[in-house]
Amino acid sequence: MCGIVGYIGYRQAYPLLINGLKRLEYRGYDSAGVALLLNNETFVYKRKGKVSELEEFVEGNPTFGTVGMGHTRWATHGEPNDTNAHPHISEKGHFILIHNGIIENYSLLKEMLRRKGVSFQSETDTEVLVNLIEYVYLNGKVDAETAVLYALNKVVGAYGVVILCRNEPNQLIAARKGSPLVIGIGKQEYFVASDATPIIEHTNSVIYLNNDNVAIIRKNELILKTLENQILIPQIQTLSMEIEEIEKNGYEHFMLKEIFEQPRSIRDTFRGRIAVNLSDIRLGGLLDVMPKILQAKRIIIVACGTSWHAGLVGEYLFEELARIPVEVEYASEFRYRNPILDKNDVIIAISQSGETADTLAAISLAKESGCLVLGICNVVGSSIPRETHAGVYTHAGPEIGVASTKAFTAQVTVLSMMAMVLGIKKGTLAKEKYLHLIKELTLIPEKIEKILTLNAEFKNLAEKYKNVSNFLYLGRGYCFPVALEGALKLKEISYIHAEGYPAAEMKHGPIALIDKNMPVVVIATKDKSYDKIVNNIQEIKARNGIVIAVVTEGDTTIRSMANYVLEVPDAEEVLYAILTVIPLQLLSYHIAVLRGCNVDQPRNLAKSVTVE
Ligand code: G6P
Repeated sequence: MCGIVGYIGYRQAYPLLINGLKRLEYRGYDSAGVALLLNNETFVYKRKGKVSELEEFVEGNPTFGTVGMGHTRWATHGEPNDTNAHPHISEKGHFILIHNGIIENYSLLKEMLRRKGVSFQSETDTEVLVNLIEYVYLNGKVDAETAVLYALNKVVGAYGVVILCRNEPNQLIAARKGSPLVIGIGKQEYFVASDATPIIEHTNSVIYLNNDNVAIIRKNELILKTLENQILIPQIQTLSMEIEEIEKNGYEHFMLKEIFEQPRSIRDTFRGRIAVNLSDIRLGGLLDVMPKILQAKRIIIVACGTSWHAGLVGEYLFEELARIPVEVEYASEFRYRNPILDKNDVIIAISQSGETADTLAAISLAKESGCLVLGICNVVGSSIPRETHAGVYTHAGPEIGVASTKAFTAQVTVLSMMAMVLGIKKGTLAKEKYLHLIKELTLIPEKIEKILTLNAEFKNLAEKYKNVSNFLYLGRGYCFPVALEGALKLKEISYIHAEGYPAAEMKHGPIALIDKNMPVVVIATKDKSYDKIVNNIQEIKARNGIVIAVVTEGDTTIRSMANYVLEVPDAEEVLYAILTVIPLQLLSYHIAVLRGCNVDQPRNLAKSVTVE
């Protein structure tokens, strides 16, 4: 979603801001803008469309200044157009502001300001905030910092904001409530951004703002305080991210790079957790809370999107290996459903970004009910790990493609390790099986490497079906969530309508859609449902459907029935989800590329959904 980048220092800000905005493009956006401040003069440029279009628009215009900020907007209030794009300037031009999040009481504030004679240009909630700050500044005759603190205390909602004041040109003010902000500390310069990607090439010393923190950033000074004006001591952290991790490194798209990274990212997920002699798994982040987890009467997994699909695989894992009842909830439904929670419930929030608004809200609700809340997150230092009692990082590395790939396999890897640990500790998983599963898990990366060598096959298949309008995905057991994920991947990036179903449910509806034009992707690996899924394939063939089957290597039975087979190496049933999703990721990727779609930044989608 919206992205923020700001700079104050000795270098010209404009090229740094444009570069930073390009780093933030992956979040998803529909307009972009920059503001620069030189002495008491401001330059503001904003445009609907891509950052490259903004650059073209700015060309030939003044771009001076060593203080500035840039924004990519993902429209919420008001359509994507030049006027609604950020930065927003206050009516009398004293303040410029960029904002991520939503000001919920904006209409009340707008009405109040209108009555005082303030007029507005845009339909945004953001313009209300910048005008409120200016109103306080002019009428209260206070400095910029005081005006900002006062105004932010009147605002209800979520925000990450960066503010410039024309009359105080040597400072940036940044504040956070809900929407993340991170400050990068360079030598005689500071950066501020909505995530670390625009910062990492300049410095790895950062401060993550907490909720209700305000930072007054000057060239040689950083003051951190609360919204109540209490001075805080900044906690400086060192980022371990490397610049190569956020570049394409020769791949045509981030998504392809991330699909191919999975053998390594999965190894990174279990590195340091699985003992070298494969005798045990140690999840350091859960040690302190393990007694409570072991007593859990129920586990509730909350998540959105792809992370929710990983949660569904988790349900099968926890129930089978640790015999703990599991419910998997869309965070958005859970938070408004008045769920019945018991203090013996353990909640697991799964999120790649660690910033998804609905998942964060579900966490607060669970905490209010006294539940132990765990996080499985990818982005280190993001909000979810900080809001949960304990957790496990997936360590998949930065995921830039909007469609999640390596985060999913890393999440399932963490869930597998958790289920195994709980199983052995509860005595529901025999030692021999535990050791066998550990070994099998460590073999998964090389099995993925083998699948990746078949990339050309997936591309050929994509060529055949790139023009169809519908796809159906079917799976059973551990591969039912993979069917959902395969369908989601396809629709996200190729805009082809696709549905995922548990294979046996096909006859309760989707079978009506099957004809000679309907490709049905069936995940049919050799596991306990194999015979049943073979029957489902027969049912599809009987109706002239096209069967694309994901099968275990060497399966001749399904090969003789299906139109196409995509082979994956043999694996333990509980680990098949990690393997079978790979061909589906690559099939979607190639179809989308062949259809000319913007694979890394699909239309309307955002990487990190920070509004509900
Ligand atoms: C967005 C992204 C998806 C992601 C979902 C949940 O919709 O486009 O790829 O699965 O949010 O995000 P999270 O960061 O919480 O996993």
